[in-house]
Formats: sequence, structure tokens, C-alpha cells
Amino acid sequence: MKYNILNALLICVIFFTSCKNSNESNQSVNDIKTSKSLSIEDKVEALLSKMTLEEKIGQMNQYNGFWDVTGPAPSDGEAEIKYEHLRKGYVGSMINVKGVKDVRAVQKIAVEESRLGIPLIIGFDVIHGFKTTSPIPLAEAASWDLEAIKSSAEVAAKEAAASGINWTFAPMVDISRDARWGRVMEGAGEDPFLGSKIGVARVQGFQGEDLSSPLTIAACAKHFAGYGFAESGKDYNTVDVGTSTLNNIILPPFKAASDAGVRTFMNSFNELNGIPATGNKMLQRDILKEKWNFDGFVVSDWGSIAEMIAHGYAKDGKEAAKYAANAGSDMDMESYLYVEHLAALVKEGEVDEALIDDAVRRILKVKFELGLFDDPYKYCNEDREKEIIGSEAINNTVLDVAKKSIVLLKNQNQLLPLKKEGQKIAVIGALADDKTSPLGNWRLAAEEGSAISLLEGLKNYTGNIITYAKGADVIIENTSFAKEVKINEDDTSGFAEALALAKSSDVVIMVLGEHGMQSGEGRSRANLSLPGVQQQLLEAVYKVNKNIVLVLHNGRPLAIDWADQNIPSILEVWQLGSQSGNAIAQVLFGDYNPSGKLPMTFPKNVNQVPIYYNYKSTGRPNMPAPDEVFWSHYSDQTNQPLYPFGFGLSYTTFKYDNLKVENTFSENKTVKVSVEITNTGNYKGKEVTQLYIRDLFASVTRPIRELKGFEMIELEPNQTKTVTFTLTENELGFYDNLGEFIVEKGDFKVFVGGDSSAKLSSEFKI
Ligand code: NOJ
Repeated sequence: MKYNILNALLICVIFFTSCKNSNESNQSVNDIKTSKSLSIEDKVEALLSKMTLEEKIGQMNQYNGFWDVTGPAPSDGEAEIKYEHLRKGYVGSMINVKGVKDVRAVQKIAVEESRLGIPLIIGFDVIHGFKTTSPIPLAEAASWDLEAIKSSAEVAAKEAAASGINWTFAPMVDISRDARWGRVMEGAGEDPFLGSKIGVARVQGFQGEDLSSPLTIAACAKHFAGYGFAESGKDYNTVDVGTSTLNNIILPPFKAASDAGVRTFMNSFNELNGIPATGNKMLQRDILKEKWNFDGFVVSDWGSIAEMIAHGYAKDGKEAAKYAANAGSDMDMESYLYVEHLAALVKEGEVDEALIDDAVRRILKVKFELGLFDDPYKYCNEDREKEIIGSEAINNTVLDVAKKSIVLLKNQNQLLPLKKEGQKIAVIGALADDKTSPLGNWRLAAEEGSAISLLEGLKNYTGNIITYAKGADVIIENTSFAKEVKINEDDTSGFAEALALAKSSDVVIMVLGEHGMQSGEGRSRANLSLPGVQQQLLEAVYKVNKNIVLVLHNGRPLAIDWADQNIPSILEVWQLGSQSGNAIAQVLFGDYNPSGKLPMTFPKNVNQVPIYYNYKSTGRPNMPAPDEVFWSHYSDQTNQPLYPFGFGLSYTTFKYDNLKVENTFSENKTVKVSVEITNTGNYKGKEVTQLYIRDLFASVTRPIRELKGFEMIELEPNQTKTVTFTLTENELGFYDNLGEFIVEKGDFKVFVGGDSSAKLSSEFKI
């Protein structure tokens, strides 16, 4: 109480001093900014009271890095206007400025030249690493290792923060069931339970325990919401989903991120059931800010406010700005529409100034939390930049998560791990020698050609004779960020050399798949087979040597049915980042026993997509009698996937036994499920034990299986461990069609095993 009165007095004094001085006393603004006694909320209020409407709107405006910031001031065109806005305090944030020198230069203009000197928040797409890159997020999700994923985000934050950045546009927590969508590489796959846990791990990794530390940065849960459900997997496409899917599949990872204290959200390019997400009040105000009590701010996606015109929702830029601001989009990324129209809209009564104040409060709050008002240059330390970026410790962390992200899909006759000596090994495929592709998409700060290629990684294993032939290029040109990639569809001129090598070798490692720039934003594919002539190459090599290990690079599930039927060993290595080649080589030679599990279902054929494990039963789930037609199926394609969600092998084998259910729900609202797991093979290994439930009858039908628990254990050969899962109302309930979380009495089945097709099951009632 005493503290509140003192604070109120201090705000009054500051306010009074500032009113007396029509030239705006910098001293008083500085007092607010750096006050040791005011709370962040009080400082925000005090600062807000000093801002003109235009300055407030300026905080809601974000510009892309637009001129040589350390060079002379621009004197022409758009850059000049943006520069002027910066000096006037009409810019709250900048994106795509990186490096201590450049960040310091823009920050200096905002802090030293604008009237109130409010620092910029500097945003950047730190998606999977910064200069040193981790595996693409989908790959990391395959590790199911929350600690490793958190550490990866932590080192990414550390490197980015050392480069002047204090805000990342990650994690992307969009659930997607459609491998055609290019951005599945950026998320955690198809499951809301796994996606929520991973989203939270990433938020914690980026933000750490102390947001004001110069080693942590603000995170951003994106894209709110529904972006991963783009019709036919085509990027930016329409999203039309029912309330059950929205509430139970799409929203939970966002809610988890909000509960975990993520400081920002990004809305999305898509429309959701007829209303663009950017202008969607139900999503941004009613659900996010009201129901979930989110107290950070929402940034639009790039130009998404202006895109509401093309959506057919707003008739012009002014109307788009009005819809977005009223709906709760607090910051405009690169549409320039807030800075252009919001002041007029407020004066005309179309946008309530209270909404502007609300947005600015949120933005200033995050800036205070980051400590930017105490020291706007706190992320700009050249010594720290030199010491941290690319350090050995960071490389060790990304190598660790890279190994854990690899998934063994097939291993007939224990062809893997490879013997460390005495063999002739042919390595075939352009991706084996590629130092850029493993970086994947969304690695804007990494240098081209900076990844360890597989050929380089193999050099650490000198006991075999290793030869290499490219066989065929995957990509023939244009792997730049904004260009369509061109795939080699017909050049087979390198086949002969590859076949000759394969013929004279004991084992062939075929390194095939997608180039890192074949997935990501704008890179949806209608075909999920191996791009270009690679399938042809694989079949040609198979004719001369069947001892093949297929090392598969890709940013999404691929349909590799032929390979699964014919190739003895298949290793899914995604795009693993800077340490890619080292990680793959360690797994190939058994120095790391693969432990990854698929975070997305792999289809046999693209025509099965969307295919996912947690589907609904339908009224006709099974073939009623042999060859009958009237059930839910295709007549020319099985319903079964190639590899189910959660699937992944090890060099050892595991047996699941003794499933027990201890149902104390009526007493303490918990059901305990335990299972014994034994390592029945010859290698020490890790296993991700997974628990799925089925709520058999419910007022809104439930999926045939839902992941509700997982735990990674490590076992020596012949060792047995018991894993116990605890199910509470959180796991047993669901969202009804009004968006309320309910727990219904009734019968449940529970399944435990190494993937979503686990057979070991039991039942219980609550
Ligand atoms: C557009 C993408 O959709 C978004 O995820 C990204 O953060 C922004 N561009 C900024 O680069």
C-alpha cells in the first residue's frame, strides 16, 4: 500500500515536471526509463502519458532493415522516409538488422535522435540457430528430447543476442498434417501434445529465466492461427476448419506457449473460416488476450495487414489498418499502414485511442522486460559477439541435438551400423558433398557453405576405403531465398561413374532427398517422391549393388514406398544444420545409436495426404467382410501409412511388457499407467516410450488415438526399466464445440509402445 502511494506520487512528480517543460525534459523521461523504484507497469504508464498519438503509433510500426545503416543517411525515396520516421520516433521495431555494428547504428538514431529516445526492439528470424545452425525444427522434433531442444534454442538465443538481436520470430507452433506444405520443416509436426511440449521447451530456451539477461531474447509463438491447415498444403491458402479441430488440434500449442510466458505472438497470412487471421478479433482479442490473459504483444506477419485487401476483406489500406488494430494486431510488420492511417482513424473515431494505448503498453512492457530502457546497447558488445558466435560450446550443442534428430526407418539384416574398417564404401549423391543444403531453410544468418557435409564427416572414419560420385545433381540452379528452385529432371550423365563405383564396393551410401531450399515458406510440393532423377539413380544403383544405406535428406515426410520395399537400410537425416556431416557419420558407424521418432506420419503415396495418426473413426472404419466396398477407404490405395507417427528404430530392440493401470481417478483424479521395457538387443540404446489414449465415447467424437505422454529411457542390453505415466484431467479432457475444456465420464483405452501403432493396451473408466 505504502509502496503504491509512493509510486503514484513519483509518477505525479515526473508528470508534473514534464508538463511544466514544453520542450519535453529529457531528464524526466530518463527518470522514468531508468527508475529503480517504479514497477514496469508504472514506468509504461508514465511514458505513455508523455507520448503523442503519432509517437504511440510509431511504437506499433516495424520496418525492415532498409539502407546501409553505418553509411550516410539516405537522401532519396522510401529509405529516406523510413530514416526520417526513425528519427521522429515513428518506428518501434526493426527486422533484419544484425551484427553489433549495424544494430548499434539504428538503435543510436532511435535513442539519441528521437524526442523520447525509446529504444527499438530488434527482431530476426532465429528459427533454428543463428550463424551456427541447429537441425531444422521438424528434425529437432524427431528427437522428442525436450532438454536437447531447449538447449538448441538457448544457444540460438545466445548467438543472436550477441549479434545485437533481442527478439526472435520463433517458435512456429503450427500443427500440420500435410507434408505438401513447405513450412512443415519449421514446426514440430502433426501432434498437438508433442507440439505443445516442444513449443514450451523452445520458448524457455529462447527466453531463459531472465529476459533482461544479454544472453536471452524474446520469443514469438506463430502463426496465430491455422496457418498449417492451408487447403491442399499450398502456402498462404485458405483455412476452413471446424471448432473441434481449431480448439483441440490447432490452438493447444499456442495456449501452452502463452501459459509458458512467451512474450509475443505473430498472426498469420491465412484467413480462418472467412476472416483473415490478421483482422480476426475472435482469435487475437477474445481468445488470446481475454481468455488466455496473454500480456505480451501481437505482431502481424510480413505485410499481412495489407494482404487483407487481396483476401477480399478490406477495401483499401486504411480499412485494413482499422480492421487489424481493432482486432488486436499490435504491431505492423512492413505494411506501413499503421504509420500512414492510424492517427486519422483515431481522429475520425474509427479506432478507439484506448486500443492504441493497449497495444503500446504491451510493446513498451516487453522492451522494459528486455532491459532496453536501462541500456539500449546491452546487446551490442563487440567482445561478446566475437567470443560467442560460432564457439566450440555452441557447435557441441548443435551436434548433440543433430545426432538425436536422426531417425532409423529401416535396418534389414543389421546392415547398420557400418563396420569401422576393412570395407570399400561408395558414397553416391550430390547432397553428400553439399555444405549448404544441410543448413536447411530459414537460416538467414548462416554463411552459405558453412555446414559440415557428409563427405567431410566421413573423413573422421579412416578404416574403410571411401569413394564418391555425385551421380546426379538434385538442384541445378537458384537456391536463393526468394527464387523457385530448379530441379534436375533429366540429366543422367553422371550415372555411369556412380554405377561403376557401386559395382566395385561392399556397401553403397546413397545420399538423396530434397535440397534444404526445397522446403520452407512458399515451397509447397504437389509431389512427395524423391525430386528429379534421384529415384531413377537409386533404382539403377540397386541393380548393381543391393547393399544400400539410403541417407535421406528432406524438410518434410517423403513418399518413398519403393525404397522401403527394396533398400535394406534407411536413415532419415532431414537437414541437420552446421554439424550435419559429423552427426550422420557418428550414427552410420554406431558411435551414436539412433533414437529419433517421427513427428509426422510418412505416407506411402502423396494421394493419402493429409494422413495423420489421430484421425476419427467414422461410421464405417473397417471392411465389413472380404472385398466389401462400403467402408471408409480408397479402392486403389491402403489406409496404412508407410511409417506411422512416433516410429523410429534403434540398433538394438525393445520389448514392452506388463502394462498396468492404477485407477485412482475417483479419489485424486489421476490414473497411473506403468509398463516394463527391456532392451532385447546387443547395443545400449535409448527408447522414447509413448502413451496414447482413446476416449471411446464422447459428446464430441474423439480421435482413435491421442498421444498423452512420452518418456525417453536408456537401457543397457538385457536391462529392464519400468516407466510410469500419470494421466490427469489435463490429459483425459478435451475442448467442446464452445471452446470449453471438459472432462467426461466414460471408458478409455490406453496403448503404450514405441510408436502410434502400439499394440499393448488396457482399459479404464473414469
Ligand atoms: C514471413 C513469415 O511467414 C514469418 O514466419 C516470418 O517471421 C516473417 N516473414 C519475417 O521474416
